Amino acid sequence: MSTVQAAAGGEGSRGGMAEGTGQWSSSLAFLAAAVGSAVGLGSIWKFPYIVGANGGGAFVLVYLAFVAAVGVPLMTAELALGRRGGPSVIRSLGIAMGHPGTLWNVLGWLSIVAAFVILSFYSVVAGWALAYAVRASVGGLAGMTAQASGAAFDALLADPAQMIGWHTLFIAATALIVVPGISAGIERAVRWLMPIFAVLLLGLAVYAAAVGDVARTVRFLFAPDFAALTPAATLSAAGHAFFTLSLGMGAMIAYGGYLAPGESIPKTAAWVTCADTVCSLAAGFAIFPIVFAHGLDPAEGPGLVFVTLPVAFATMPGGALVAFAFFALLVIAALASAVSVLEPLVAATGAGGPGPTRTRRTWAIAAGAWTLGLASVFSFNLWSEVRMPGLGLNLFDSLNLMSAEIVLPLVGVGIAVFVGWVAPLALPESEFDTPMGRRVWLFLVRFVAPAVVTLVLFDALT
Ligand code: PHE
Repeated sequence: MSTVQAAAGGEGSRGGMAEGTGQWSSSLAFLAAAVGSAVGLGSIWKFPYIVGANGGGAFVLVYLAFVAAVGVPLMTAELALGRRGGPSVIRSLGIAMGHPGTLWNVLGWLSIVAAFVILSFYSVVAGWALAYAVRASVGGLAGMTAQASGAAFDALLADPAQMIGWHTLFIAATALIVVPGISAGIERAVRWLMPIFAVLLLGLAVYAAAVGDVARTVRFLFAPDFAALTPAATLSAAGHAFFTLSLGMGAMIAYGGYLAPGESIPKTAAWVTCADTVCSLAAGFAIFPIVFAHGLDPAEGPGLVFVTLPVAFATMPGGALVAFAFFALLVIAALASAVSVLEPLVAATGAGGPGPTRTRRTWAIAAGAWTLGLASVFSFNLWSEVRMPGLGLNLFDSLNLMSAEIVLPLVGVGIAVFVGWVAPLALPESEFDTPMGRRVWLFLVRFVAPAVVTLVLFDALT
């Protein structure tokens, strides 16, 4: 065990180390994993469609403001908590404040519930991406008209057996990567996945710039029209900032728990956030130029990449290959993220000393999330009429709303208050290049993050 983990007294880390879970072997490996966690369906699938559905520029601006003012300081806080308190999110807060049994661990438990729920539906959506990647690889998306494309997506959603099949494959792949642990599993996978991801994303953005309408994309993404910004849109921008940065559910705490001493946490957080933002915008630049050039609707919603894009691909030079590249990109991004949703669950359940092995815990959690995922699968077909009482939404949308848009920001505020007021020593001055840096950070976690997130939640829920 490293001295830092020993000093942190992290029983979680001890549990992990005993089974050879390990530590990130280099800063680069950690960065690849953390960026892999952040950049996922959230950046490539959801960001473009919620920007489209919320009118573009103003939404992007609000989102960027959240990312800078709330996202970076909170990611800093989560990584620091993990490093001090170990990767088990249900204990790290207590350990970080030297009070293992504290009530603050409730935040950890909430994160765990959110992670479990998110894993369940994340895998279902990733399953669609997998289905499309496989279809594209055999030329199955060729010649799509707008009508055929809509019908093909509807047919996938209407077929529970098919959806369950893809969902099963995806969650099994996620578990296979998580089982061997940090260095032998996650790190080994992201070393391959992230470079391929970067090349694909860059290639797609360049291609879109060559064949699409970039000028209109720039206007759409960056010219703000504040009239289009509703309270619900603001909440969704805030919720998305948490979701896309993997905050509020223990992922960054767990990843921070395997971080070697000597890494600068604030710098790491800033890098990961920048990379995620650049990838989200790049996804916009890979998608919207093509959408605009074909006169398609940017406000299509969740079907933007599954329905709208294939129509464009079908008429473009090299479209079949591009379609495959795009959906492969989506699957890779989703996989590197899903492992970071599963890892905190595995770390937390292993924190209590001898118990089931890591392999058993991983498969048991994956099986549980798979089962809950069936509710999301059925919301598109067998249970499409079922509505969550009080919310009026189907099960998939309700699970998404409650976890991603409510629990993540709530836990985020809790963690901001915790590190800002209760355990500021979780991030000592020595972690910052300048004392000023720490003062700015404290100001953001003490005042800005709690105030902004509370206001947004309040505004949207009343
Ligand atoms: N950040 C990932 C994405 O944008 C999703 C995620 C959420 C991963 C929460 C881990 C924790 O797709």
